[in-house]
Amino acid sequence: MPATVPQLPDCFSASILSCNLACLGEEIHAVIDAGADRIHFDVMDNHYVPNLSFGPAVFEALKPYALKVSGSPVAIEVHLMVQPVDTIAETFVRSGASLVSFHIDASPHVANSLKLIRALGAQTGLVFSPDEPLGQLSAVLDLVDLVLIMGVTPGFGAQEFIESTLPKLAQVRRLLDSSGRSIRLAVDGGVKIENIRRIADAGADTFVIGSAIFETSDYKASIDAFRHALEK
Ligand code: DX5
Ligand code: ZN
Repeated sequence: MPATVPQLPDCFSASILSCNLACLGEEIHAVIDAGADRIHFDVMDNHYVPNLSFGPAVFEALKPYALKVSGSPVAIEVHLMVQPVDTIAETFVRSGASLVSFHIDASPHVANSLKLIRALGAQTGLVFSPDEPLGQLSAVLDLVDLVLIMGVTPGFGAQEFIESTLPKLAQVRRLLDSSGRSIRLAVDGGVKIENIRRIADAGADTFVIGSAIFETSDYKASIDAFRHALEK
């Protein structure tokens, strides 16, 4: 395992899947005010995963809410759990997504999907479910801005972290370090105050967090506790 992974200043992405869905805009304001660095937008299609969430129209309606108090924009990163990938990825980039990620097994032509997202002007993320091997990753590294390792089976928030994610993160960390490229390594699902230190030690530099923020009454206290756990 790596001795230290430099923690990036903007490492907390809040997954709004677990927020109060009746008040999405206000929830985005609140979690940004509480210290979230990015917003994570989970797109589920009831086909690739057995759940249905939000689409491009909701994304467009929410974009104006992703602002800091100072007025500077906060990135909304789209996590596609859909199949097929390309058409909907293009729609999200054209709607203003700064990063679009998709699952490696959801596209028949992974490199082409990554190139499409980049050509349209967004960053790319490649996602691996817990049982998905890392096989193809090294072949497309030059097209990837973020590797997203799922800590849970995709489809639902508030699940328990799968421990075999830790050696997988360490394996990706070694690959990214040896590539010399500047690629983020994010973990999504099951991140809690109790396990974030171990997840960071395994190699993650970016953390998607849903229920552990939104199912608490004080978002700032929760995000502060995560930052504190990382500083230990
Ligand atoms: C799961 C989603 C995650 C999830 C994270 O399919 O991709 O973003 O909502 O939520 P927590 O932090 O509650 O596991
Ligand atoms: Zn997600």
